[in-house]
Amino acid sequence: MNTGYSRTIQYILRFVVLLAVLGGLGGTASAHEDRHGDREKTTVLKAFVPAATGGVFTDNPYNPRITISIPAGALSADAKLIVKRRKRSRAPGGTLTAAGPVYSIRLKSTRHDWTPLVLERPMEVALATDRVPEHPQLGEVAIYREGGWNRMMANFYRASDSRVLTQTRNTRVRLRAVFRTLQARTGPEVERGRELYTEETWGDEEIWGDFFELHKVLNNVTPNMAVGIGAQVDITRVPQFIVDVMLGDDFAAKQAALDDPAVARALMKADAIVGIRGVYNDPDNPDMMTSVGLTCAVCHVTVRPTPFQLEADADPVLLPIGPLVFGPPNTRMDAGLLLSFTPRVQGGSENVNIADYQGWGPGRIDPRFFPNNPFNDGVFNPSSIPQHWNYLDLAEQGYAATWIGVLQTRPDNHSLASAPECGIDLVLDRNGAWGTPGASIQDIEIGNPLPQEFLDRLEVAEITEPGNELLKQDLLDVEAFLQSIVSPAPGPFDETRAEQGWRLFYGKANCAACHSSGEGTGAEGKYFTNIVENPPQGLLSIGIKTPGLRGLMFTAPYFHDGSAATLADVVQRYTSADIPEVPDLSGDEQMALVEYMKSL
Ligand code: HEC
Ligand code: HEC
Repeated sequence: MNTGYSRTIQYILRFVVLLAVLGGLGGTASAHEDRHGDREKTTVLKAFVPAATGGVFTDNPYNPRITISIPAGALSADAKLIVKRRKRSRAPGGTLTAAGPVYSIRLKSTRHDWTPLVLERPMEVALATDRVPEHPQLGEVAIYREGGWNRMMANFYRASDSRVLTQTRNTRVRLRAVFRTLQARTGPEVERGRELYTEETWGDEEIWGDFFELHKVLNNVTPNMAVGIGAQVDITRVPQFIVDVMLGDDFAAKQAALDDPAVARALMKADAIVGIRGVYNDPDNPDMMTSVGLTCAVCHVTVRPTPFQLEADADPVLLPIGPLVFGPPNTRMDAGLLLSFTPRVQGGSENVNIADYQGWGPGRIDPRFFPNNPFNDGVFNPSSIPQHWNYLDLAEQGYAATWIGVLQTRPDNHSLASAPECGIDLVLDRNGAWGTPGASIQDIEIGNPLPQEFLDRLEVAEITEPGNELLKQDLLDVEAFLQSIVSPAPGPFDETRAEQGWRLFYGKANCAACHSSGEGTGAEGKYFTNIVENPPQGLLSIGIKTPGLRGLMFTAPYFHDGSAATLADVVQRYTSADIPEVPDLSGDEQMALVEYMKSL
């Protein structure tokens, strides 16, 4: 080998490296139009990146528009980083809108051989946005791939400096800041669906009235008792005489009203108690229900609480009286406790199950337990009422409805309409095709996803089963309504911690191994029995899907069995040996993950 020659090469290389480093440090000052007169691109950043140390590189230290952080040891060789801003590019389109310019990022090996340069660990890219996203817009980063803009999975929007962060292991990539709008269906069918969801009982008075005789309990509860078991009041329907008492300053009268069954009855008669719909057929007692039906809203709706001054010198008390909020579950609804007081459970054929009903606890129902239900699995396995939101985005990300994920919702079919049908058939005990009297689909084993034969037989049963009372149009309207709801904007959280948590989620803590989609759901066809401490039993033993993670601040308690009261409990559970994907995490790391989840 000619040593003099190689020394010359080394000398030139060192000189180039020095220039690159200077260029990098210089930031925008050194930005220049590409040679060859290409006005489409401006080089905004050039730097030498030693593999051993990595580094943080930015186009302008005083007002960075793009910052690239490369971890030490992540690169397989020393590299040159070149970032160009493109003047023109195709608009992102779809649910994405541009929120900043397009950057082409390139890492080139400085080694003069053909070994491809590899990022063993992702680099982080922070891009400034040119304005602030407004919910339901989310600040994200999009990548140009296969002729179009696609959202990155790992995104964190930092409100304090209006920057979005992402991670990538591509050494050659084109990125831009975007805002993604959570999709929401609109149209007259949404309004029809909302009406059905909040008002329609589908004739379920047969089970709640005729069978359980629930009205006999409700006729005698006081407002305080009703609130205690999770009843909520639609403020727009409260009779005027109650409004006058509650807003007045006669505190004795207020206390008396809250303990007066006649006040509860007046609220029920006015359809002001969310999801409870009385039947009044006794002319001698026009305010007493002779039967009662329930609507979807009793479990699936919350109200925004209102503060009431109940005592002269005390702080106001928040009562569940307010406007309806669609999406978050009614986690206070203790349907089992309520049912346990009914004549049927107290004295009738169901009385052996009092403890079971009382054991469900607030926010949990066992739809696989109701008497005569074809899916009664004879096991005590109540499940939490899930949230209803982001269904259009979820469908694009391989979401499956119900905790065991047997209903694969897809953008191109109406399988989400089967979820309302489940609610009507299994929870409200009406006769759709699932809960048909002939129960012609009972003999097929349930699996996730549902076997095609099940779906085929379901379709036939829709038409042929006698007693099938569900109108397909009703189900499609309720589906449309469900698709109109998006998750709420996150509440307050500690941004610095949340950012650390985001890094852990996609890095060390390995949460993204399962929560891999944009809304946090998991890969299709993957079901788990080990996430909760007591493995799911009965029909649930086929495994729980990976649920979405948006709006978590509004859905506690967590997991299908409600076994984690707080997000801290969730993360604590993940550090147990039962879940091998997640390593031990320090207390600090756990708290960071909690803050990140609050930001979703
Ligand atoms: C008594 C309370 C209750 C009522 C009433 C009720 N549900 Fe549910 N709903 C639940 C519970 C509990 C689950 C979770 C069941 C499971 O997967 O184990 C659920 C699950 C669902 C799901 C699946 C959510 C998801 O993303 O996985 C949908 C959709 C749904 N219900 C819609 C409805 C509709 C529509 C109605 C009215 C026709 C209704 N529900 C009535 C308690 C209820
Ligand atoms: C092995 C796959 C897997 C991994 C890894 C994983 N999850 Fe989960 N996650 C699930 C499944 C499955 C559920 C539902 C479990 C259940 O309800 O029984 C779930 C549920 C949750 C819930 C509750 C959601 C709700 O609506 O109740 C949260 C929050 C959550 N995960 C956060 C995390 C975090 C944070 C990490 C990383 C520390 C993580 N997950 C790692 C699969 C996973």
